[in-house]
Amino acid sequence: MYLGVDYYPEHWEGHMLEQDLERIRNMGANIIRIGEFAWHLMESSEGSYDFSFFDNVIQRAKEYDLKVMFGTPTATFPAWLAKKHQSVLSKDEYGYIRVFGGRRQYCYNSDIYREYSKKIVEKLVEHYQNEKNIVAWQIDNEFGHEGSDLCYCELCHRKFQQFLSEKYRDVDELNKVYGTIFWGQTYNKFEEIPLPQPTITTHNPALRLDWARFRSHSINTYAKMQIDLVKACKGEHQEVTHNFSGGFFDKAYDLNVVAEDLDFVSYDNYPVWGGLSEPLKPEHIAMTHDYMRGLKNKNYWIVEELMGAQGHNVIGYLPRPNQAKMWAYQAMAHGCENLLFFRWRGMTRGAEQFCLGIIDQNNETGRKHEEVKSYIEDVKKHETILKSVIKSDIAVLYDYDNNWSWHIQQQSAEFNFTQELVRLYAPFYRLNANIDVVSIEKDFSRYRVIIVPVMQVIDEELGRRFEAFARNGGTIIFSFRAGIKDRDNNLHFEKVYPCHIRTITGIKILESEALQRGQQVQVAGVGEYEGKEGKCTVWRDLITPEKAQVLYRYDDKFYRENACITLNHYGAGNVYYVGAGVDGQILQDIARVIADDLGIRTIDSPEGLEIMIREAGQEEWCIINNHSEDEIMFNGIKMAAYGSKILKRSELITTTL
Ligand code: GAL
Repeated sequence: MYLGVDYYPEHWEGHMLEQDLERIRNMGANIIRIGEFAWHLMESSEGSYDFSFFDNVIQRAKEYDLKVMFGTPTATFPAWLAKKHQSVLSKDEYGYIRVFGGRRQYCYNSDIYREYSKKIVEKLVEHYQNEKNIVAWQIDNEFGHEGSDLCYCELCHRKFQQFLSEKYRDVDELNKVYGTIFWGQTYNKFEEIPLPQPTITTHNPALRLDWARFRSHSINTYAKMQIDLVKACKGEHQEVTHNFSGGFFDKAYDLNVVAEDLDFVSYDNYPVWGGLSEPLKPEHIAMTHDYMRGLKNKNYWIVEELMGAQGHNVIGYLPRPNQAKMWAYQAMAHGCENLLFFRWRGMTRGAEQFCLGIIDQNNETGRKHEEVKSYIEDVKKHETILKSVIKSDIAVLYDYDNNWSWHIQQQSAEFNFTQELVRLYAPFYRLNANIDVVSIEKDFSRYRVIIVPVMQVIDEELGRRFEAFARNGGTIIFSFRAGIKDRDNNLHFEKVYPCHIRTITGIKILESEALQRGQQVQVAGVGEYEGKEGKCTVWRDLITPEKAQVLYRYDDKFYRENACITLNHYGAGNVYYVGAGVDGQILQDIARVIADDLGIRTIDSPEGLEIMIREAGQEEWCIINNHSEDEIMFNGIKMAAYGSKILKRSELITTTL
């Protein structure tokens, strides 16, 4: 098991190296990640490659039994390159060049940048291909992050037009699909097609979806170029990864494509960053881990785990004592099996002075160091448990076309794609059930429950897959706006909503309402839910049941006849439709019924206490994390505020379960 730190030896005086490595090793670490922003140090002027600085670091690391993950340095290119070839710099939506000075400003489509990247990557990896101490290569750093997914330069414009001409062949086909007859936007040639830069009102939604696909394609082809190259040059003992960032649903970039070519996925876990006044909710953090595991359907690494407060210009919430450590346990609970903390020591100069590390500018060890040390000591003992395979009966499904379609037309100002996934994920998370988060393109037939939040893009084929899943006994939970659009991001014609799933849901939807800030609607239980009530926000579909049974209806003056939540028995399966942004308790009750009916493994725990069950050998283990600021007593076990424990499940059962 690899446990370690991100270390930037180039930030410090040379004489500190030995002392740092010794302290890192004494903390219990066995790996450092280096190099990912140090292109200039490796090629200070064009063609003058020199890796001696890192040769020394790697040799010294060996003496302290520290393995190395090495990052290819393309996220920050040298100033001489920007000066020589201005065209490698990307442009923002207003056409302004992103000047040299920050990071990630290169254009993924720049052939010149690709050439320079190839040269440095090839030289670097070949130089170290026989280096036994380097166990993995990280490609670049956080593709698409910090706005770098989008570039509106002339080259991207030309390549976008080319992408469209390869896709549609005939511009009249594009005109037809986009419906450019509307507002007289018909194109005579692909060369007339604009980039979706700021204009009056808004661009065509079909064009914007193609733009998102093109952006994703741009990143993915750049990444593939590097991955293939590293694979061709590296030693057999070295693996290849990339560190994905948070906020992945807010980028024009489908991570699944890059993940496919990697040996393993890495993730940078920052439950709080910048000006946030409080961290992400535990269920939100958990869902991001399950998403990372879902990319390759296998355990993954965290190569940046937050330890201190973070921010460039504005800094927010300070993780409470043991809270960051608890997040590292939570990551392991969800399938991270090797973990590095960001970063060994905070840097006193440069843009990240307020991105704090394990130790601070005073260079003294303190609370954070103690937390990391005790964490490493503890998790090492549980390696077999933490490397076990996680099996889930439940999956949350997402689709990038659908995600981008929502980002293009948000419909309710209150709508947030990630939050709608969290809304349906949370009730099962609170039951401590195992959940996978996977792309709709994967085979979902092996699950017993699929959760399909806000899937507004449903085509005929997907409709058929849902039908087969329900017919064969699966349970599906859809939420609002399902099946209103086709793959081109246009509304379905001559079909009643929810299109392609009308039969299996047993409902029709003729009207809907966006609920804006401050607006909420009461909903009331029906039948077995009679007497229960709650509210909904964000959106509501006014459902007319055809065959489905009504579980909740709206409770306002005009729409009492319309259902809010329905259940339809279809084939051997059950299909739920949650027509609104309903509140947590309503969904909690439904999740409980589903899990109990299907005999899915759950554990009741008090609010704030997360329990993941892992199987190792014949034994079931519980990884328990207290996300609350209060001590919790649970089945005779005392969980301190932000405390974590790994226990045999039988130890819990004997006490009360
Ligand atoms: C990450 C990034 C690191 C560092 C860190 C600061 O997103 O990969 O290089 O910038 O944020 O919190």
